Parts: sequence; structure tokens; C-alpha cells
Amino acid sequence: MNTLVIGSQWGDEGKGKVIDFLTEDADIVVRSQGGSNAGHTVIAHGKKYVLHLVPSGILWPGKLNVIGNGVVINPTSLVEEMAYLRNLGVDITPQNLLLSDRAHVVLPIHKEIDAAQEEALGDHKIGTTKQGIGPTYADKVRRIGIRMADFIDPAHLEIVLKARIATANEELVRLGHPAADPQETLRAVMEAAGELRPHITDTIPVLNRATKTGKSILFEGAQGAMLDVDFGTYPYVTSSNTSAGGCCTGSGVPPTGIDKIIGVCKAYTTRVGAGPFVSEDADLADYLHGLGREFGATTGRPRRCGWADGVVLRFSAMFNGFDEMAMTNLDGLDACEEIKICTAYKLGDRTLEFPPALISEWEKCTPIYEILPGWMQDTTKCTSWKQLPTNCQAYLKRFGEIIGCPIGSVGVGPDRSQTLSVPH
Ligand code: IMP
Repeated sequence: MNTLVIGSQWGDEGKGKVIDFLTEDADIVVRSQGGSNAGHTVIAHGKKYVLHLVPSGILWPGKLNVIGNGVVINPTSLVEEMAYLRNLGVDITPQNLLLSDRAHVVLPIHKEIDAAQEEALGDHKIGTTKQGIGPTYADKVRRIGIRMADFIDPAHLEIVLKARIATANEELVRLGHPAADPQETLRAVMEAAGELRPHITDTIPVLNRATKTGKSILFEGAQGAMLDVDFGTYPYVTSSNTSAGGCCTGSGVPPTGIDKIIGVCKAYTTRVGAGPFVSEDADLADYLHGLGREFGATTGRPRRCGWADGVVLRFSAMFNGFDEMAMTNLDGLDACEEIKICTAYKLGDRTLEFPPALISEWEKCTPIYEILPGWMQDTTKCTSWKQLPTNCQAYLKRFGEIIGCPIGSVGVGPDRSQTLSVPH
């Protein structure tokens, strides 16, 4: 049984908790896109871990973890993350963590180019995580990237690194930035390569053989579908395919090998970084921030907040092919007298069921809301669907109808026990 877990909005939907829940039954956990721009907070065995690149199956003994070919790996960040996990008592070996030899490498210079490009955009900046993600994927499609396979032979690695550092430095200078120290860059990457070398292999046959022998794979999506470079709020997106299709191209497991696709959404919407957000609502943001919710896990920055956007979720459920939606953070709405769901967008005299492709049009859209009565009760102690207030049950049912995808589970708090099944 191979399952995909995909963020259906702009990331930070609480995928970590859903993934942790499903990891128990998985033999292998795979990351197939993005890089250390992701930040998964996972509470396992009573301890809190923040993971960026390493799949969360690492927190479980006996699980294989794979970083697939679609991921961009920053070698120094990965070595640091492995050290952080080892310090917390996590066992990491070349047997339980495999890195695809086709995954592309983020160099320190890519981070500097990312920052320089953002600066050059001025008021139009994307609001990237400055982890060098975009410039590394750009190298991939320009066919000038360095891949993990280049790490295997140190003499070869030194040659390709020196060449790329030189051209990347020319790019930095063109952007008006000082060149990076080539010796220091070379040293840092060569050192990290030495640590990572034993983990590098061709992961594609490993995953396909596992599928054939009945092993279960869990694909851990990073970011969210609206940050997908094809389907998201382009250009305010990340540079990978964060949607279901990206799990196949980013791992080498074919579409026929996928059994179940679970979308994760919040009961409302949040986003970090710039870009259109039709159902954004300042009062809801004040209310959620006042509860101490919706501050970035890594940066502590307040996230932008708004009501559930049915247009985005309907689109997301369609192009991802979600079998069901796992909703998180329902308890965040416990004290709201009324709750809005955006059912369509108004654009001039047009009513849109799906978002427009042009960002200039998306920015002009206004929300058409359906307003439902709140439940005004604490849901955090509810342990089953039957215990949820009637208005809350009605919200979940209506939510599923609007987005065209049933809600399969709902989270009413951060604890593992605070996830309830929703009948559908
Ligand atoms: P990049 O992925 O660093 O290039 O950033 C591009 C956009 O994606 C920015 O708006 C980021 O804030 C957003 N982004 C990237 N990773 C995440 C994530 O894990 N959660 C939420 N937003 C993200």
C-alpha cells in the first residue's frame, strides 16, 4: 500500500502530525521534492523534532528513509540535521537513510544567489526561504546541475565543483553581490560529501522492488499544492512540483504504484511569503495570533491567515486526485460565532469555480462566502465524531461538499490522540 500525503494549501497544514500517524504502518518513508525550505515539526515518543530534509520515518526504528531524485539536497544542511538528530538519540546509518544519486545538490552559492535575486526584485520579491531552492532547480533544468552521483569520486567532485563555483560567482557579481570564497565553498562541500557518500545509491530500484514485495511506502509531501510551480500562485510559488504528480517524478515510483492520496488542509487557511490570498482576513488573523497560533515553526514570524478557500481546495483536490482530506486545526475555530467558507471567486462580472492562471487576475478576485454558524465549544477533548458539536459536524460535511472531496479525519489538537475519524 503506497500512500501520498500532500499539503493542499500553501504549506504548514500540519502534515507532520498526519504523517507521523501513518508512519506506524509504513515500511519506507520517502521525500520526493523540495529541500531544506521545508520544516516539519513532529512530536514522536513525547519529544519534539523539527525536520527539514530527513524523512520522519527516521524517528522510528526499522523504517527505511529515502530522499528521492526530485529533492534538492544541501549537503552541509543535511549533515547538520543528521548531527542534530543523532544528538537527540536518533540512529542514522547507511541502512536506514538512502540518498538518490540523481538528486541535485544545493551549493552555498545557490543560497547567496537566492538572496541576491530576491533583493533585486525589490517590492516584487517572492518571499523565498533563501535556502537556494529556486537557483538549484534552475541549474537542474538548465542542465548544469551537480548531482549526488558526482559525490562518489572525490577527484571528479573537486573538478565539477570548482567549475560551478566559478560560474556561479560570475552570476553573483552580475547581480551586484560580492563573490563567495571559492576555497571555503569547496572545503565545506567536500567535507559534507565525505559524510554523505555511504548513503548515496540508486534509490529507484530499491523503491520499485519494495513495492513488488508488498512493502508499504509513505510519501511525505513538502510545502503545499498552491506552491506547486505548475498549479500554484505563479510566480509566488516554490520551484518544485509539490502536488501528487511530483511524488512519482521525484522518486521513480510510477503512477500505477500509488494506492492512496491524502490531502491535508487546515480548517482555515494560512500562508507565508507574498502572493494572492483571496480569503485573507485580518480579524481572523488577529484572533488566531491572539491564541498564540500561526507563528512560523522555524522563524517565529506570524503567518497570514484567512477563511477556508473552497476554490483553492476544489482545484487542489482535482489536480492531486485526493481520495480524502485530513483536516487539521479544527479547534482553532472553536470560539468563532460564525465561520466563513469561500465557495467561489468574483472577478468583475464573472464567477469563478477555479482560480485563474494570471496572477494579476487572481489578485483582483474577491471571495463569495457561505456563512455557517460556529459551535462555540471546546472540541479539544472530543475523542470521536459523535462527540463533536452538531454545528461542527455540519461544517465538516458542508466543507467536503464544497471542495468535492470528503473529510476523512480531523485534528482537534497537537496530540496524537486528538485525531478523529470522520465517517464518509
Ligand atoms: P522557496 O521554496 O524558498 O523558493 O520559496 C518560495 C515560496 O514558497 C515562498 O513563498 C516561501 O515562503 C514558500 N515556502 C517554501 N517552503 C515552504 C514551506 O515549507 N511552508 C510554507 N511555505 C513555504
